Amino acid sequence: MEQYAIKGGNPLVGEVEIGGAKNAALPILAASVMTDETVYIDNIPDVRDTKVLTKAMQNIGVMVKHDGRHRVVINASQIHDLVVEDDYIKKIRASYYLLGALLGKYKRAEVALPGGCDIGCRAIDQHIKGFKALGAEVWIEHGLIKTKAERLVGCNIYMDVVSVGATINVMMAASMAEGQTTIENAAKEPHVVDLANFLNSMGANIKGAGTDVIRIKGVKKFHGTEYTIIPDQIEAGTFMFAAAVTKGDVTVKNVIPKHLESISSKLLEIGCEIEEADDCLRVVSSKPLNHTHVKTLPYPGFPTDMQPQITVALALAGGTSIVTESIFENRFKYVDELTRMGANIKVEGNTAIINGVPRYTGASVSSPDLRAGAALVLAGLAAEGITVVDDIHYIERGYEDFHLKLQSLGAQIEIVNSERELQKFKLKIG
Ligand code: EPZ
Repeated sequence: MEQYAIKGGNPLVGEVEIGGAKNAALPILAASVMTDETVYIDNIPDVRDTKVLTKAMQNIGVMVKHDGRHRVVINASQIHDLVVEDDYIKKIRASYYLLGALLGKYKRAEVALPGGCDIGCRAIDQHIKGFKALGAEVWIEHGLIKTKAERLVGCNIYMDVVSVGATINVMMAASMAEGQTTIENAAKEPHVVDLANFLNSMGANIKGAGTDVIRIKGVKKFHGTEYTIIPDQIEAGTFMFAAAVTKGDVTVKNVIPKHLESISSKLLEIGCEIEEADDCLRVVSSKPLNHTHVKTLPYPGFPTDMQPQITVALALAGGTSIVTESIFENRFKYVDELTRMGANIKVEGNTAIINGVPRYTGASVSSPDLRAGAALVLAGLAAEGITVVDDIHYIERGYEDFHLKLQSLGAQIEIVNSERELQKFKLKIG
């Protein structure tokens, strides 16, 4: 099984190009089935989750062709099946975006119940509530979530929790309902806005995305479009924290600094310097890191998808820090692994109490999920000696060429496939 072998201690220095946002690409790929005309999408990240979703789309008759590594051409005029079920699709959360998209267009869909990272109870009651409010029947049978409607009719929907997935799913279905839908307490994440912009570029009529009230006037038909996905806020944030923990100097390029404000402000608080230009941000970490408190919140708050990365940094900061996870209850599973590298962290419920230590020491650790896996790599880059990170297939779900991008910044990191390759890595780096 593939692992990352890392020799820590090198400050990361240089520039890194950030790819398209995975969590925007997934709903946009799904939404592209809502027209029979051809859709061209640029800046698709080449990561495992987008590959699984496009494969599932091909299995129901959607033509998906790559035109270069990051551009796809999609035509969904020949869909022959509204049942999406294969061995892989239930492993990714975004499989359920095909529900909203197919329900909107065909008024019927069946999709394998979604999995995704095991970071807590990932309810879908708000998706179901939204579909039902639009007039659909929704039920679960044989591991599939099934929905159908004679017609979808616009309505007012109040989301009981702020949910990215439910906002996206309901927005897709409602964009082809009759009349007007209002989603209140909607998620405001940049990828929600990106999907709304994409749908509008296909002829939808969606206003207010990015605020907590989204108003949608249903239309009968969408047309083809050409669209470019926004940069990945979390990939950028991960490299920014890589600079912080390695005492580095990293410029993340092709980003939208506004999307990174909560991340930049925490980096400033803990003692990094930030320089901002139109589409890049430079993070310089030259002083000892300071402690702070942070609580994860829906956008524009500090993202839960950056919680493990900031914890890795705070565990090296002087004093006591507190990290509160308010979105997913099971997102501290990596803390045991970090402890094996020398961190001093106590988890109580949804709070981690962190007493900073001067250094990590390399160890063999396992990624429990995507972002925690990336955070353990950051710890390895900061650690003394060699760290081996297992289960990197989680990391590959959401980071394209992670080790190559880190190498280009001076990191000593390689993928190894066996004990022999690990020994070779150790000999090579001396
Ligand atoms: C999306 O997950 C992202 N996934 C996650 O990123 C991200 O952590 C999360 O949003 C929060 O930002 C994708 O975009 C594919 P939610 P999602 O619905 O949509 C509760 C990553 O690392 N809830 O906003 O599943 C839920 O339990 C991944 O890239 C309900 O109670 O998250 C959670 O506590 C991991 N009922 C909270 O809302 C519902 O019907 C937020 O979940 C839906 C959600």
